[in-house]
Amino acid sequence: MNEKKTYYITTPIYYPSDNLHIGHTYCTVMADAMARFKRLEGYDVMFLTGTDEHGQKIQKKAEAKGVTPQQYVDGVVDGILKLWKTMEISYDDFIRTTQPRHVKRVQQIFKKIYDKGDIYKSEYEGWYCTDCEAFWTESQLVDGKCPDCGRPVSKAKEEAYFFKLSKYSDRLKELLTTTDFLRPQSRVNEMLSFIDQGLEDLCISRTSFDWGIPVPIDEKHVIYVWLDALSNYITALGYPAMDGEDDEKYRRYWPADYHLVGKEIVRFHSLIWPAMLMSMDEPVPKHVLGHGWLLFDGDKMSKSKGNVVDPVVLIDRYGIDALKYFLLREYTFGQDGNFTNEVMLNRMNYDLANDLGNLVSRTVAMIDKYCGGIIPPAGPEEGPDAELKELAVGVRGRAAERMDRFEFNMALEEIWILVRRTNKYIDETAPWVLAKSEEGKERLNTVMHNLAESIRIVSIMIQPFMHTTTGKIRQQLGLEGKVRWEDAGVFDMLGGQKVERGPVLFPRLDVQAELQALEDMKQKSAKAAGAPAEPEKPAKEYEPYKEAIEFSDFEKIDLRTGIILSAEKHPKADKLLVFQIDFGCEKRQIISGVAGTFKPEECVGKKVVAVMNLKPRMLRGLESNGMLLFACEDDGKFKFVSADAEPGTVVG
Ligand code: MSP
Repeated sequence: MNEKKTYYITTPIYYPSDNLHIGHTYCTVMADAMARFKRLEGYDVMFLTGTDEHGQKIQKKAEAKGVTPQQYVDGVVDGILKLWKTMEISYDDFIRTTQPRHVKRVQQIFKKIYDKGDIYKSEYEGWYCTDCEAFWTESQLVDGKCPDCGRPVSKAKEEAYFFKLSKYSDRLKELLTTTDFLRPQSRVNEMLSFIDQGLEDLCISRTSFDWGIPVPIDEKHVIYVWLDALSNYITALGYPAMDGEDDEKYRRYWPADYHLVGKEIVRFHSLIWPAMLMSMDEPVPKHVLGHGWLLFDGDKMSKSKGNVVDPVVLIDRYGIDALKYFLLREYTFGQDGNFTNEVMLNRMNYDLANDLGNLVSRTVAMIDKYCGGIIPPAGPEEGPDAELKELAVGVRGRAAERMDRFEFNMALEEIWILVRRTNKYIDETAPWVLAKSEEGKERLNTVMHNLAESIRIVSIMIQPFMHTTTGKIRQQLGLEGKVRWEDAGVFDMLGGQKVERGPVLFPRLDVQAELQALEDMKQKSAKAAGAPAEPEKPAKEYEPYKEAIEFSDFEKIDLRTGIILSAEKHPKADKLLVFQIDFGCEKRQIISGVAGTFKPEECVGKKVVAVMNLKPRMLRGLESNGMLLFACEDDGKFKFVSADAEPGTVVG
């Protein structure tokens, strides 16, 4: 019998409609790091990922290519599997929704829910987005288009089976309000408002296409994708047990500890999925965590917008560890983050080449030079030794705490505090001075020993995030054997190992040259894909500064944050938008000349900064009370100036 505590973590199953981009890898990299961290801590981990292969979109793509849907998905899934192999993603199982093990179980799941009386036949009419494979209600459409992808939707009506989602409203509300099932809290509020508006029963079958799992009680229907897709989390564990196959994994790992999902699919995971499980009288997952998106130039990456970042290009150039480190270190779980090559390259230089790489190469070189290549035992403790030791053995606990809150960036920061402290320890102890005299010899040995110990602990702690670097560091330190969690909690383990100078862990990058190289590669691949090359940008001309003013003049301006409640076109002026804005203590109308940049509906909910004490003015018959701040770009387009603060917060 397995005595270890279990930990079951999943990523969404990706649509194999196209190759994956860096946004998709973001979630998988987080799940991988967490799975590795928990394994290191000693858990019995199950890490599941896979592909969601049915649906109309895939059927259409295959038709356009003149292949069967199965042939189409096989090709794309092959690429996804190669990507995960290149990135050394440590999943324990990869489920494809076209696999017989999944198909037959989804049919059983449908029957279970049907037998419970929670599925009925009716007629569905709604707005359907083929790309997202989602039906939307009238009120959910944005500007008459799909709220997720912005593409046109069409009215669809057909005989369909429905799942009684509404029946579970109260239990879902209870789940969301009395447990920490869903995080972050902002998503909980969003889901509660869906429930309060009244949950509609969910259409779970389609007859208008046939690339799906047949409904077991009515073969002219196929199961609509979300019931099919969500079930993967349990069919992969062998649920329900059938054909004499064992469901030991289900009993061992279910309920899942964490489903990691992007913010746009939180509602499927935190309303539909638990309701399906409630209907089957099965336990619901312990947690659903919604993460933000990686944006490119502030926009969601998508092939149709031509702004996708290809992870393979970055891995080829910088290696998997550098890319994974960047993704985990730079972004905050739950929030959107902007991807830029420049920020990535600077992180790689500062944190990896300078801080970690230098520390290892300097230390190994010094042990080689001053101690004949053998890590010496420690002598008496002195000066900063105690502080270094205490920091080093405490990293384990601090990083684990951060990881349990899915704060990957802060867990890495905890480790880097030690990396930076160890670099400082070299400067403080000045080994090159100690090496000059015979009296300094014993102290020099202690310093070298402590440096090696500290790096050894770092090598353990970074293993979940950058396991190849762990291997390289340990080879340089002459360490053999398994990386063990408990070894990160002790300081004095080394002595007698033979160090081995190795190649530079992370070469220093010439940021400007790399930016140019990445841009050239982008242009080249766009050209290969038939897109016109982007014209070279002329050097930017910056506006000269205005004359200096006294602080007392600046102080007169009252700046506050607000949030746009509504926006509409000015009835008498094409260029003007009329905003109603919540400033906490009051609501105000402000008019701005930005109709050329924004559609009114895309402004709603935007956080803004306004000059509150500008005297009110009449603009074509309507009063504008204050002024919103915008950045105006060279092409005349505006960007909102905003602050992530409660409405009414003073800016200054
Ligand atoms: N097939 C469904 C999921 C079914 S799970 C039972 C699906 N697939 S997807 O391929 O469209 O998206 C998979 C995941 O990738 C989602 O969680 C989505 O948020 C994530 N991402 C896609 N683009 C992304 C970014 N640019 N940034 C971060 N995550 C992104 O939805």
